[in-house]
Amino acid sequence: MPPSISIYPDQEQLATAAADLLVQQIAATLATQPRCSLVLTGGTTPVLLYRLLAQQPYRTQIAWERLWVLWGDERYVPLTDPQSNAGIATRELLNHVPIPPAQVLPMPTTAANPHAAAAAYQQQVQQILADGSGQLDIVLLGMGPDGHIASLFPDHAALTLPDTVLVTAIDDSPKPPSQRITLTLPALQQAGLVLLLVAGAEKAAAVQRALAGDLALPVARVQPPHGRVLWLLDAAAASAR
Ligand code: 6PG
Repeated sequence: MPPSISIYPDQEQLATAAADLLVQQIAATLATQPRCSLVLTGGTTPVLLYRLLAQQPYRTQIAWERLWVLWGDERYVPLTDPQSNAGIATRELLNHVPIPPAQVLPMPTTAANPHAAAAAYQQQVQQILADGSGQLDIVLLGMGPDGHIASLFPDHAALTLPDTVLVTAIDDSPKPPSQRITLTLPALQQAGLVLLLVAGAEKAAAVQRALAGDLALPVARVQPPHGRVLWLLDAAAASAR
């Protein structure tokens, strides 16, 4: 199914549209199954969205007690580190909503060996898939100016891992910090719905290349066979189309 594209005048209206879409999609998912898995993204783009979801009216429009929250990637730093993706989402959103703590699954970043941490998280992802719909119901992704998503960067070996590898460690991320954990493409292909949140003129060239089907960009390779991809762009990110 070809991706659909929605363009908004600025980041604030993009965040509002994403919040409306999430409320609608979570409700639709929970109308047909007992629980919903939501994969959060890191970076700065989703922060406005997280702040919206933490306040009325969105806060009470979501059945948080039926949500399981995971991450698409994580910088290999403690949760308290300002760079932590889970730390950002916790401060901006999860501390303000009634989601049971046991249903929030940050990627582990305290083990000495990030590869062991990645393997442990893969177990959790597989359990979520087994306990739920068999899909990652809703996956939020940001995109870098080079077309990376999560911590999957162009020309990186992590892009060609076997389908059995759902989570991997990255030791040489071109975007600091260099050590990260990330879902792989095989994991992302198990999404029911991917929301790509992309804002800023510096991403316009990658947006244009990805939508033209340039598979050198990791974002262009996210094509869940049983799911769909929605691009939510601000006008600046859509300016090269
Ligand atoms: C990370 C993110 C990364 C991010 C993009 C966009 O850990 O850095 O997961 O994939 O989503 O780099 O980042 P911005 O939203 O800050 O532009």
